[in-house]
Amino acid sequence: MTAERVCAESEISVSEARRVVLGGIPIAVVKDSAGEVHAIGDTCTHGDISLSEGFVEDDAIECWAHGSRFSLTTGKPLNLPAYEPVPVFTVEIIDGDIFIDPTITKAN
Ligand code: FES
Repeated sequence: MTAERVCAESEISVSEARRVVLGGIPIAVVKDSAGEVHAIGDTCTHGDISLSEGFVEDDAIECWAHGSRFSLTTGKPLNLPAYEPVPVFTVEIIDGDIFIDPTITKAN
């Protein structure tokens, strides 16, 4: 699979998360508080909760259900109760558009 266009970078606000499904994989596309775009697995590893419904702060997203925060750069949980990481996908910005390949994950 090749990278798919998700949306224009300008369509996502700072500290906003948006859920997309690429190749059947739910992905949270998140712009952190510094304006950098990240793509992580959208399903919390503690329960079947969409992380994109959570809260973005700095370079992490917090699951609204029980408060685990996940690093947007590594996918690792920063606090319990979640202890397994979510996948992190490579993001490319091409001519102002966000492209993600759901088959390529960064090691975490
Ligand atoms: S479901 Fe996400 S922390 Fe519990």
